[in-house]
Order: sequence, then C-alpha cells, then structure tokens
Amino acid sequence: MISDTEIKNQVREFYDHVGWQEQSDGFYQNASYEDLRPVAQDYIHKCHLRVLRHLNPTGYFLLDAGCGPIQYPEYLEYSKGYQRRVCADISLVALREARKRIGSHGLYVVCDVAYLPFSSNSFDGEVSLHTIHHLPSDEHIRAYQELYRTLAKASRAVIVNGWDNPPLSIFLNVWISLYERLYAISRPQVKTANLAHDSTSSTAHTKSRGTYVRKQNAAWLQNSIGSLMPIKIWCWRSLSVRFLRTFIHERLAGRFILRLIYRCEERFPHFLGKYGQYPLIELRKNR
Ligand SMILES: C[S@@+](CC[C@H](N)C(=O)[O-])C[C@H]1O[C@@H](n2cnc3c(N)ncnc32)[C@H](O)[C@@H]1O
Repeated sequence: MISDTEIKNQVREFYDHVGWQEQSDGFYQNASYEDLRPVAQDYIHKCHLRVLRHLNPTGYFLLDAGCGPIQYPEYLEYSKGYQRRVCADISLVALREARKRIGSHGLYVVCDVAYLPFSSNSFDGEVSLHTIHHLPSDEHIRAYQELYRTLAKASRAVIVNGWDNPPLSIFLNVWISLYERLYAISRPQVKTANLAHDSTSSTAHTKSRGTYVRKQNAAWLQNSIGSLMPIKIWCWRSLSVRFLRTFIHERLAGRFILRLIYRCEERFPHFLGKYGQYPLIELRKNR
C-alpha cells in the first residue's frame, strides 16, 4: 500500500511537472479541468466571487492554503483588503508562479496544509480551494483542524472542494451518459475525431485526471468536522464541468440557462451546497 508521504510526493511532482506548466493556449494544464468557454464565463466569475461574502473584508494576513499560482483573476480579490497574502503550497513551482502575480504582497511558504507551520490564531482570513482533496483521506480532519487552529478569533475561513458523487450530479450524470450514448450512435465518426483532438471534451477531461484525489460527502463533513468546529455549507457551484460542457452552449441559450441556475443557487444556497457538486464551507472562529 502506498504511504501518505508517497501520496504527497506524487501530488507535488504532478503539480511541479504537469499541473502548473503553461500550455500552448497560455493557461496552466490545471485549467483544463475548468470550463473556460465564453458561454460559461459570467457564471464561473460570479461563483468565484462568492468566496468574498464569507471572508472578513480586511485584515493583516490572509492565508491561501494550497494557493497554486493564484491562477484566476478573481482570486486576487480575496486578499485586496489584507496587508499580506500568505501563499502556502507543497509545490515550489506553484509558489514561484504565485510570486509572479502578487510579488511583495505575498509571503511564500512551502508547507503541508495538514501541518501548518504557523502559530495559532494568526490569520484574519483563510481560503483553501480544491486542495484538501489531494490529502490522504486520514489527514482531511487534520487539515481542517489546522485551518481552524491558525484562524484568528472572530475570523472566517472558506474551503472549497468537490463532493464525492453528490445527489444532483448522480442525477445529471444519467442524462449526460444518455446524451453521450445517443450522440455516439448518431455520429460515430465525429466522436472518434473528438477523442483524439479535443482536449475540452468531457471524455478527454476525465482521461487527463492526473493525481491522487479523495473526495468526501456532506454526511462525512457534518459528522467529522461539524462536531469539532462551527461550519456552514453554502453553494459555491452546483454544476460539474462535465455538465457544463455537455449541455451549456451558446446556440442553446447557455448564458440564459446559467443565469437561471445562478439565481437558483442564490435562492437555495444551503440545499444546493449540500447536494450540488461544489460546496463552499465556511469555518468560523468565534471570539
Ligand atoms: C487543484 S490545485 C488548486 C490551486 C488553487 N487553490 C486553485 O484553486 O486554483 C491544488 C493545489 O494544492 C497543492 N497541494 C496539494 N496537496 C497539498 C498539501 N498537502 N499541502 C499544501 N499544498 C498542497 C498543490 O500543489 C496545488 O497547488
């Protein structure tokens, strides 16, 4: 069996040599897991900005745990009201790239989110996006505890990771699979061509998954973390990238549909946070 240290080494190597390498389109390889098409841009942008609602707007240090290269412009907003952004990552390449973006506004620390080398109550705000799922599952609780320990009193942290097979995605995946099957029957020759060349197709997306990921579900979060610290589950984004790429298109009123979905997420943030694809977990440390 592979050890926790080996898992972390694999993850680090993946990000150093693959995830944070720039591709010919100017984006990092990691961005191939996101829907960057113009039709989804406004929806994705607004979902990214949701993080801001759950952070104290100003403070001294903001911790970005598993910062990567701070790859999307919206990420820069999170630390605008803070004196310094402490970028923490096990990948040196990630930190070098992050420094290109925020220079002296940042402090750069190679470390493990499950063993943060910071004193308790240090940060006025914290974000950790799409990172805890890369830890061995027996260290997920520890990572939450570390984020909670290092958070200052009367402060909040935002954690985003996809759920493992949430009910909404299970339901939508049935329709996606059906659609893909029908599409393959009606146009077999086109499918072959797509598989070979289209890196944005959902199939290519699935195939390019490159490193260790262990996702949890809402019951796990509520039982294992909710019993240790105050958490609230909100909606970050209810739809998977696979759904977006399959059903959201300019010619099929994609922008309009996404506006409606966004409104639903605003109306039912806790329900869609719990049952949709990506929750936003707000961690609060009281006075
Ligand atoms: C999917 S990327 C997300 C990066 C960024 N937060 C974002 O949303 O674009 C995951 C990042 O977490 C880092 N990472 C993975 N395991 C880690 C660990 N145990 N400690 C610190 N960083 C870790 C990786 O090196 C990578 O930069």
